[in-house]
Order: sequence, then structure tokens, then C-alpha cells
Amino acid sequence: MLLKKLGLSLGVFLTIAASVTGLVIIPNWQFQGHQPMRKADGTQYPLPYFGEQAKGRAVYIDQGCIYCHSQQVRMKGYGADIRRNWGTRRSVPRDYMYHRPHQLGTMRTGPDLASIGHRQPSATWHALHLYDPRITSPGSNMPRFNYLFTEMRDGDALPVGAFPGDVIKIPPQFQNSGITQLVPNERGKALIEYLKALNQSFPLPEAQQ
Ligand code: HEC
Repeated sequence: MLLKKLGLSLGVFLTIAASVTGLVIIPNWQFQGHQPMRKADGTQYPLPYFGEQAKGRAVYIDQGCIYCHSQQVRMKGYGADIRRNWGTRRSVPRDYMYHRPHQLGTMRTGPDLASIGHRQPSATWHALHLYDPRITSPGSNMPRFNYLFTEMRDGDALPVGAFPGDVIKIPPQFQNSGITQLVPNERGKALIEYLKALNQSFPLPEAQQ
């Protein structure tokens, strides 16, 4: 009886110890001593998100993009991530040193976004895609995030705070009810800045094997 209890307690202890080691101790150890690196152009990688990018990251979180998108590229031999062009290399802990909370995600209803800013740097593309994914990606089942934009008809005045350069033309075949143009609102603009900043293309040395 005593032996059985002992065995059970030991089992419980080992289960908890293994999880804490695998999920807390080893990841923390992997982060230790990580420093950002200097790129050839003098800028630093990785960079903390600030300003518009930080605001956009909050929008990404509150809109639940993580329920359909991961931000982690697996190494060669662990799936087709690199073949699918989701990244030029695998993701490593240093990529996330300023991500709190990180947005690694587990669901991949849509493509991985770890390096979407590298793959798709166009703000206009992102605006049209977020407004209605079917414009840029026929057959897409991503939901619309049209409330991140002000819709404009020909002749409408610019929304307060917007510049003429912010206006995006909707391709004629997707114009509805006279709405011909879009202007991202504050949250839309910030989200697009964040997406453009997602870029893991810098060849960190530990990601080369
Ligand atoms: C219900 C699932 C779902 C949600 C929620 C969702 N997406 Fe998507 N997303 C998809 C699917 C499916 C695709 C692939 C088809 C396409 O390009 O539209 C995609 C594609 C994308 C792409 C293009 C990726 C590429 O490689 O071309 C971007 C960028 C993107 N989503 C951003 C977002 C952002 C930002 C949010 C949150 C505001 C979001 N998605 C929310 C399902 C989703």
C-alpha cells in the first residue's frame, strides 16, 4: 500500500518535473546571454516593437489573428515551411527576444506570418487583403477586417488626419455600392506597419544548421 502511494507520488513528481524542465527551465536557458546583432547597414536585429508597430501588434492580438496564423518557421526536415516560402531559414529563440507575449501560435488555417513583411512588403497589398481577402487571394476564407478602414466614394473628403497618399483604390471589379477607395484607420494603419515589420530574413548564425 505504502509502496503504491510512493510510486504514485513519484510519478506525479516526475511528470511535473519533466514539464517544468521542458517548458520553463530549458527555454529560459536557451534565451540566456542572447544579444541582438548588428546588420551590415548598422541597424540592429532583432528590434523591439515601438510606436505604430507596437500599436499594430496590440491589434493583431485583440483581433485574434493567432487563431489562424502561426509565427514560427520550422527547420528543414520538419515540414514544408521553407519550401512553402514562409521563411528563408528556421526561427530560433533570438528572433523572439523582444516578443512579450510571443505570438508563435499553433493554428495554421492560414500561412505562417513569421516573415510576412519580407514575403509581402507592400502596404497596399496588406490593406486590400485585410479589407477583403478575396481581392488579392481568390477563394480565400479569411474573414474581412473591413472595420479597420474608412470606405470612400468618389468625391468624398479625406477622413480627418489622413493624407492623400493614404488613399487606396479598390480594383473596379471589387467596387460595391459606389465605394471606390479606402483609407486605413488608426488601427488598420498600425496593423499594416506591424505586418511589414514581421521579418526573420536576417541570417542569425544559430539558424544556419
Ligand atoms: C479564420 C481564420 C483567419 C483569421 C482569423 C485570420 N486569417 Fe489571415 N489568412 C487566413 C487564410 C485561410 C489565409 C490564406 C488565404 C489568403 O491569403 O487570404 C490567410 C492569409 C493571410 C495573409 C497572407 C499570407 C501570405 O502568405 O500571403 C496575411 C498577411 C494574413 N492572413 C493576415 C491576417 C491578420 C493580420 C489577421 C488578423 C487581423 C488574420 N490574418 C486573421 C485565415 C485567417
